[in-house]
Amino acid sequence: MAEVYITCRVFEEEIERLRAAGHTVEMRDHPGPICHAELLTKIAAAEALICLLSERIDAEVIAAAASLKIIANLGVGYDNIDVEGAHAAGVIVTNTPGALTETTADLAFALLLAAARRVVEGDRFVRAGDFLGWELVGSQLGLEVYGKRLGIVGMGKIGTAVARRGRLGFGMKILYHNRRRNEEGEKELAAVHVPLEKLLEESDFICVHTPLTPQTRHLFDRQAFARMKDSAILVNVARGPVVDEEALVQALATGEIAGAGIDVYEEEPAVHPGLVGLQERVVLSPHLGSATVATRRAMAKIAVDNVLSVLAGAPPLNPVA
Ligand code: GLV
Repeated sequence: MAEVYITCRVFEEEIERLRAAGHTVEMRDHPGPICHAELLTKIAAAEALICLLSERIDAEVIAAAASLKIIANLGVGYDNIDVEGAHAAGVIVTNTPGALTETTADLAFALLLAAARRVVEGDRFVRAGDFLGWELVGSQLGLEVYGKRLGIVGMGKIGTAVARRGRLGFGMKILYHNRRRNEEGEKELAAVHVPLEKLLEESDFICVHTPLTPQTRHLFDRQAFARMKDSAILVNVARGPVVDEEALVQALATGEIAGAGIDVYEEEPAVHPGLVGLQERVVLSPHLGSATVATRRAMAKIAVDNVLSVLAGAPPLNPVA
């Protein structure tokens, strides 16, 4: 029997599973991430922590959690956690790989299409009562998607799922940049592994799927945008800081690139005001990558499976190395 602290609302059936195993559960029943000071007090007696990817689990939290055995992050990315510090303190870290691959790939494609075909602008136009009839040369002509070149930065599970949509659904030619070659992706999707510079210069659409690391922070900076086609659209459903938001705003405002579909932000939940001000071919969503009922249920189940396993003295199912 152990104390489990959950920083956010999770599905009732998962709380029941923890209680059925004899554990005491405290769930913070408020919207949004917990503040650091509150987390420090709440974590003191917990043996398991289930937390959001937007919560900073740093050395201070780990030090305040003397009995902690596992941090189960609700998300596949875990850049919010001091994994090295946790491991040094004997605390296991787990994530939720797999569950959200297709869901996140769907959102990436939704943003790509919405930005290219100006769907959100069209929605605003209709609601404002401005739709006065079909025109051959209207004010909202968009960009072709079918058969264009799709650049994938980070060809892991999600990047490959996006490439599959592009190749099989939209006849796109796939370029990718990854630390390691993805030979399966190359075979299945005729994807071509290229240096980042070539991908930036030749892609019509660029989707970002790389994790946030010191090496990928601001991978998309002024120089990167300068290399891109002025007709290119950038889609980011990975992590905000992979893109220098100030440079992105500049590139969009000056026409250095044509548009963007953005789901994640540098200072999330804050969004660069310059980005908010841009309307044409710019679509913004509030970190919705995994946001379907089925996927969020699956993610909660994976987190609880990991907690139950570790508290029972068994190995975690999805350890972060
Ligand atoms: C979402 O951003 C995740 O990392 O799961």
